[in-house]
Amino acid sequence: MDFDLQKIVRENIRNLTPYSSARKEFSGAAQIFLDANENSFGSPLHENYNRYPDPLQIEIKKKIAKLQSVKPSEIFVGNGSDEAIDLLFRIFCNPQIDNVLICPPTYGMYEVSAEINDVKVKKANLTKDFDLDSDAIHNESDENTKLHFICSPNNPTGNSFGREEILRIVKTFGGIVIVDEAYIHFSREQSFVSEINNFPNLVVLQTFSKAWGLAGLRVGLAFAGEEIIQLLNRVKPPYNVSEIAQQAILRALENKPEAEKTIAEIITEREKLIESLQNFSCVKKVYPSDANFLLVKTTDVEKIYNFLLAEKIVVRNRSNVELCAGCLRITVGTSEENANLLEAISKL
Ligand SMILES: Cc1ncc(COP(=O)(O)O)c(C=O)c1O
Repeated sequence: MDFDLQKIVRENIRNLTPYSSARKEFSGAAQIFLDANENSFGSPLHENYNRYPDPLQIEIKKKIAKLQSVKPSEIFVGNGSDEAIDLLFRIFCNPQIDNVLICPPTYGMYEVSAEINDVKVKKANLTKDFDLDSDAIHNESDENTKLHFICSPNNPTGNSFGREEILRIVKTFGGIVIVDEAYIHFSREQSFVSEINNFPNLVVLQTFSKAWGLAGLRVGLAFAGEEIIQLLNRVKPPYNVSEIAQQAILRALENKPEAEKTIAEIITEREKLIESLQNFSCVKKVYPSDANFLLVKTTDVEKIYNFLLAEKIVVRNRSNVELCAGCLRITVGTSEENANLLEAISKL
């Protein structure tokens, strides 16, 4: 499929003169900074937070580029990957005219972001085995479908989709395909980051909120060809990632082995939890998971959910979501948390 990125960018974005921040205009060695209306006296924290942070997060990008074998210019750093999702709507979707395609049950923010941006959502539900339904995908998309979100591993079902099927969609779709890999580090599947140079319409999202255990910092990533990354940088708020978050991410990236150890522990705990949950009569099915959570079909979802709440354990009731009747989504916790969960269910 011939793909011309500029053709699908909204006209107002194509013509946008982005905000030029002080820190963007000057990049040399100076000693006195009187260019950004900061407070030169400092703050009650006595830390270096009186200056605006690097708007393009160059040090973080250099480190991630090495880890992921991409160029820094192929990385966008956002205030969570939720920010990248919202920016993609703002860059590509004309409110009330364009639409996006999602494959429910899936991550809820795609639809919320669509509503906020006044963009219609088309739905090609997964099959009953939680696979992508190629016929439905084909039938639902039209010439105004600008974005197709594919979450793999998928939230809340936990499974990954076949690589070939995703590639087929990327090759044939005339808009932007977003492969959301928030849970990729827990998966048996390979990331799609290595494909960004092969497909100018591919965006891959990852996040520091899950495998890296840094949800509180609000830092997410988008990987794509340089043209898309430049658009994201033009539209984002100038200083979208705080200095504290940037410093903390740099420190975390120095300690990748520790993150890898945690990931391995979570995967071990996940497999133990699957086995244990399957023994309960109130559990009809534990779906296979490539993520750090389990989708669990139960005999009486309201009763179990409320019982766990009374035991001070909160899980997610996904019963009202497409194809998930009777299902709870349970995050894999520490071995102690999981033991408490199992003990509570055994009291039911
Ligand atoms: C599939 C998926 N994508 C993105 C996000 C949001 O990630 P972030 O914390 O980076 O905004 C989540 C959070 O739960 C998620 O499940």
